[in-house]
Amino acid sequence: MSNFNQERVLSVHHWTDNLVSFTTTRDPSFRFRSGEFTMIGLTFDERPLLRAYSLASAHYEDRLEFFAIKVPDGPLTSRLQQLKEGDEIIVSRKATGTLVIDNLEYGRNLYLIGTGTGLAPFLSVIKDPATYLRFKNVALLHGCRRIEDLAYGEMITGKLPSDELVGDFARYQLIYHPTVTRDRFCNCGRITDLIASGKLFSDIELPELDPQHDRVMICGSPALVRDARELLVAKGFIEGNHGQPAQFVLEKEFAERNN
Ligand code: A2P
Repeated sequence: MSNFNQERVLSVHHWTDNLVSFTTTRDPSFRFRSGEFTMIGLTFDERPLLRAYSLASAHYEDRLEFFAIKVPDGPLTSRLQQLKEGDEIIVSRKATGTLVIDNLEYGRNLYLIGTGTGLAPFLSVIKDPATYLRFKNVALLHGCRRIEDLAYGEMITGKLPSDELVGDFARYQLIYHPTVTRDRFCNCGRITDLIASGKLFSDIELPELDPQHDRVMICGSPALVRDARELLVAKGFIEGNHGQPAQFVLEKEFAERNN
């Protein structure tokens, strides 16, 4: 049996010239936990061209969703640019990843720090009732260069609060805090700087980060992941992983980077 399922593209949404989301059919046997990633790809010259992508859809949805950055000379993402409804893509039968709540100890507040398409795994995390049963407050911090890059804001603030399954949780427990660094916006600055200065906490009305009560997931560029990790370690946070739950977990966003 092949390690991949053949799926069909159901919709494509271009947020900007660089950012695209698409949904596909989902083989009923495909299982994943919120926050995990899988390998997806296109068959090109009869050879599969595969990359890891976080699952942005909830584990209970009957379609899969992916959020990707398009890199002009990226072998796969340059082709994703032309993706259209009805196209076939291949999706691994397996999902994995460290950004799952089981890799975190119990705590009061869950911080989800995502920059760029590093938001993707957290979209499934915030649509999962288990997240809200485990944590009292869930703070989703999305950092981007530009306002136009703040994809999914409308879904998070508009649709999610009235969702049949997680609407009540989202209304009372989810704090969405988008911030940009290269435009004027209501929230400006790098997430790491907002944490270090304490501005974030006065803005979202939660106490400063404390390893005793807070748990953190990080996903973004290698530089963001490195700096956010340093910041947390300096505050006494311990990194967790499979079989060793602790106070924070991290993963680099899956992007074909040319910088
Ligand atoms: P900045 O505009 O100051 O570089 P990218 O698209 O490069 O992944 O960046 C997404 C967001 O993450 C941007 O707002 C960017 O800020 C920010 N960022 C990039 N590197 C870091 C870092 N090392 N620490 C904190 N934020 C970062």
